Amino acid sequence: MVAVLAATSLTARAAGSALSQLDQQCLGCHSAKGLEKKLTNGEALSVYVDGAAFAKSIHSKIGCAVCHANTSFENHPPVKTKIDSIRDYSLAQTKVCETCHAPVFKLYEGSIHATLVREGYPNAPLCTDCHNPHAVMSKAAYDAATGAPCSKCHDPIFKAYAGSVHGKAALGCSNCHRAHDVSAATKGDQLKDTCLECHQDALAAHQTWLPNAAQHFETVSCPACHAPAAKRKVDLRLYDSVTKQRVAEKEGVPQFESRARAADAKGTGLDAMALRSLLRGFNREGADNETTLRGRLEVSTGVEAHQLMDKSQAIRDCAKCHQQGADAFQSVTVSIVGPDGRRVRYGAKPEVLNSVISVDSVGGFYAIGGTRIKLLDWLLALAVLGGIGVPLGHLTINWLVRRYAKKISGKEDS
Ligand code: HEC
Ligand code: HEC
Ligand code: HEC
Ligand code: HEC
Ligand code: HEC
Ligand code: HEC
Ligand code: HEC
Ligand code: HEC
Ligand code: HEC
Repeated sequence: MVAVLAATSLTARAAGSALSQLDQQCLGCHSAKGLEKKLTNGEALSVYVDGAAFAKSIHSKIGCAVCHANTSFENHPPVKTKIDSIRDYSLAQTKVCETCHAPVFKLYEGSIHATLVREGYPNAPLCTDCHNPHAVMSKAAYDAATGAPCSKCHDPIFKAYAGSVHGKAALGCSNCHRAHDVSAATKGDQLKDTCLECHQDALAAHQTWLPNAAQHFETVSCPACHAPAAKRKVDLRLYDSVTKQRVAEKEGVPQFESRARAADAKGTGLDAMALRSLLRGFNREGADNETTLRGRLEVSTGVEAHQLMDKSQAIRDCAKCHQQGADAFQSVTVSIVGPDGRRVRYGAKPEVLNSVISVDSVGGFYAIGGTRIKLLDWLLALAVLGGIGVPLGHLTINWLVRRYAKKISGKEDS
């Protein structure tokens, strides 16, 4: 006991005179390593606080008592507070951050992370999961080398990211996702717009070799071409034809998965008939707005979305996509915006992309419609075989595509 006291008072002194006397008194006990509190659910809460780190931190000026207002020497520690679990303690204590950081708190409240906290996810981050309240440092929250604080929970993504162009350039996760108002990754065009904020000349640069570059940016995700090792796939998003927004699950009982499962009786993935009946389900319930599908070519996993390489490795071979049976079209999902804003997906069979039964609802994703894909093949073959120079090739393709589009709309009108 004597040894422990001697050791702790030493640490407290080492922490320096920057600390008030009261704080030093708190640390007199709390800088003892291994000091723990048993919680109701059996967990042990470490009540050790690193005094030296606290003294150096931006919060040292505040002092222990401001944040721990209900802890006083009159009742502490003899009167033991009852704490159910470590998580419960954190949930209660982090409210104190709002008193001084209200604007940040507000941003955070609108994030996917806070939404998940409200839903009861045990490992969705609170302020204190990303910032140790006793060792907060100025601007040091993000460490490119370790990916902290995000890598603690997204380690597979961090590992993939570390070797990417951005990881090597020491950009942090929050450069694209932001730190506090983190959104679901597939929310609107937010992430793509973020890319284009830094790469302002990107569209112009692509237009020099990629016809319909703007349309490609709409329907092909940036990683689909810039993560060369990734597996590519098609996601068909439920889309409201009137509001021009992706369809979101209704509040209350989510229906997408149960409907998809009901339509997919064999459980082997939606075929064209099943996809049609799924869409009928959404179009029945008195909805005036028609639900359709919008295709997007993207990489298969969130990890792959972070393996962006330098431009020399990017995919520019048109035939990688514009060719019958191209790999990218062999894996298909259908998705909706889930109740928390994250996407919910269900597997479908590749045949839905060019079946006459579903092709109507896959409107707007022409590259995959059987006849049109053949047209593109033909155009490209023409451009290559004819030895047409690249700029001329583009003009020709644009002209032919326009002419063909006219022909089609003419046909459909009649
Ligand atoms: C005499 C030693 C001692 C001093 C001085 C002391 N603590 Fe504690 N503190 C403890 C012990 C022991 C526990 C664990 C209590 C338990 O097991 O219930 C604890 C627990 C805590 C907890 C965990 C939550 C809780 O309510 O149990 C907080 C927060 C805390 N102390 C803050 C402070 C602050 C702030 C000060 C200074 C104002 C301080 N302590 C001073 C010994 C001390
Ligand atoms: C900026 C506000 C703030 C200050 C200043 C602060 N704390 Fe805390 N403290 C917290 C929060 C928030 C938690 C809950 C931590 C969590 O969620 O894990 C906490 C938790 C604790 C705990 C429980 C164990 C743990 O780490 O979770 C102890 C003990 C504690 N603080 C002691 C102290 C002492 C001693 C000081 C002064 C040297 C101090 N605190 C200063 C906000 C603060
Ligand atoms: C998911 C991790 C994460 C969570 C949760 C988080 N932060 Fe941060 N915070 C960061 C990162 C990373 C930075 C570094 C600055 C940046 O990249 O924008 C930062 C910076 C800050 C800053 C300084 C810069 C600024 O934007 O003003 C404050 C203050 C701050 N956080 C407070 C909070 C508070 C309060 C909460 C809880 C409401 C919180 N943070 C929740 C990751 C997080
Ligand atoms: C009593 C007021 C107070 C409370 C409570 C408080 N902070 Fe702070 N915090 C400050 C002050 C003052 C600064 C200094 C920088 C500033 O002006 O924002 C600061 C700075 C920070 C920074 C670093 C900002 C930077 O410039 O890099 C972070 C991160 C931070 N606080 C997070 C938290 C978290 C998380 C909590 C809750 C556990 C919390 N704070 C609670 C007052 C407070
Ligand atoms: C250069 C911008 C950029 C950076 C930096 C970045 N991301 Fe991403 N992140 C993306 C894109 C793009 C997606 C995929 C969006 C989509 O599916 O359309 C994504 C998706 C995600 C997802 C969702 C994954 C899923 O399963 O759908 C998580 C989680 C994520 N990122 C975390 C991180 C973390 C952690 C870091 C830092 C190690 C990080 N991101 C750095 C651009 C970035
Ligand atoms: C304490 C754990 C934790 C930390 C730290 C953390 N996250 Fe998360 N995050 C989660 C959990 C849990 C989810 C929901 C499960 C999932 O989608 O991976 C999530 C989801 C996300 C999503 C949405 C994924 C989707 O499917 O759309 C993004 C983007 C994200 N986090 C980015 C970040 C960034 C950036 C940081 C660092 C600033 C960070 N996270 C820090 C736990 C954490
Ligand atoms: C169809 C495939 C494809 C798509 C989709 C695509 N890129 Fe590219 N991108 C490439 C290729 C190939 C290059 C290399 C061109 C070259 O070397 O001239 C490139 C080059 C770049 C460059 C370097 C430009 C320069 O100045 O030389 C950036 C930055 C870039 N892309 C960003 C993006 C962003 C952001 C998106 C999404 C909005 C995107 N790309 C979508 C294939 C694509
Ligand atoms: C915060 C700014 C920033 C954001 C946001 C950002 N980048 Fe970058 N990007 C960079 C920097 C810095 C480099 C490395 C230096 C360079 O080559 O320009 C880079 C490099 C690249 C390269 C390699 C370019 C080459 O010349 O080889 C590509 C491709 C790229 N980014 C695509 C993207 C995509 C896709 C996104 C969105 C998911 C994105 N970037 C978001 C800053 C950013
Ligand atoms: C990573 C896959 C991918 C690559 C590589 C790619 N495209 Fe595309 N392309 C698509 C997708 C997907 C569409 C969108 C179809 C739609 O929305 O109607 C498209 C659309 C087009 C269109 C418009 C077709 C129409 O019916 O409106 C043309 C023309 C085109 N691509 C030509 C090219 C050329 C030429 C190249 C090579 C320089 C190329 N593409 C490279 C996937 C790709």
